[in-house]
Amino acid sequence: MKYFHQPVLLEEVIEYLNPKANQNFIDCTIGGGGHARAILEKIKPNGKLLGLDRDPKAIAATGENLKIYKNRLILINDSYKNIQEIIYGNKIDLQFNGILLDLGLSSAQISAEDERGFSFQADQPLDMRFGPDGSLTAAEILNKWPEQKLLEIFKNYGEEPRARMAAQKIVKQRAVKEFTTTLDLVELMDEVYGGGRGKLNPATKVFQALRIAVNNELENLSAALPKLLQILSRGGRMAVISYHSLEDRIVKHWFQDLTKDCICPKNFPECRCDHRQQADILTKKSIQPASAEIKANPRSRSARLRVMQKI
Ligand SMILES: C[S@@+](CC[C@H](N)C(=O)[O-])C[C@H]1O[C@@H](n2cnc3c(N)ncnc32)[C@H](O)[C@@H]1O
Repeated sequence: MKYFHQPVLLEEVIEYLNPKANQNFIDCTIGGGGHARAILEKIKPNGKLLGLDRDPKAIAATGENLKIYKNRLILINDSYKNIQEIIYGNKIDLQFNGILLDLGLSSAQISAEDERGFSFQADQPLDMRFGPDGSLTAAEILNKWPEQKLLEIFKNYGEEPRARMAAQKIVKQRAVKEFTTTLDLVELMDEVYGGGRGKLNPATKVFQALRIAVNNELENLSAALPKLLQILSRGGRMAVISYHSLEDRIVKHWFQDLTKDCICPKNFPECRCDHRQQADILTKKSIQPASAEIKANPRSRSARLRVMQKI
């Protein structure tokens, strides 16, 4: 399979992470290796990059794309949430000066060739797992989960305004015929929206919700951020690109907490937490792609970059 992905906010990521000769980096979501390649160039001649991806296809493609860097590139097919086990299990003895998380999906995963049902534009099996390490599929959620749980994920993970109607219709529909392919769901969401939904495909939000639920994306992100901070060297930087408000909110609030000396509830008369400032935020507001980038790569339009520096 041809693996293609245009890295988003590439110049900005490099400017903020500021990789220098012989430093080491972690790319937690290496995808097609676009950001990784730029970092590897900057950390020449001896800097190493640990590249992770939950998707074995991404790891295989990047191994091929970046083979000229093979002596400085460690590629591992695993989730970034297991970063500590990955580092200790593989006896990786490096100081890391920078960490990148570029969340979401690659263009290759959305393409018709992928066949995991990430895209509503091709008729594919309703799988949506980033990697074979997960067992839950989108079909299982649609065919087995109770209506209330469907409603919750559509509301909480998809911010889908017609979540209730969608959940009700799914439960009715599956009693007649189970959901097997993306087209089954696309047709149902067309019914939910009758006359269409402006520029947005009616299925956009429920696809997002299902993908987040299948891959446990928000929990993984929340659990991984503190582990990654521990691994980052003092003075090292962490950059996160998110593609929807749910992810961005997690990153923003976590970054904000890191800058505080106390995170006790406001009504506590005195500080009872041992929290101390651990980082400075380098991006006061999130960085968004310039209009030229959005024009050249429309998929970048929802990207938000936040960067912090460990103190
Ligand atoms: C937007 S793409 C990254 C693109 C990459 N920066 C590039 O330049 O090609 C996001 C990648 O994150 C991977 N991913 C999603 N969840 C993950 C997780 N928990 N651990 C590791 N990789 C994950 C996906 O498989 C996908 O390849």
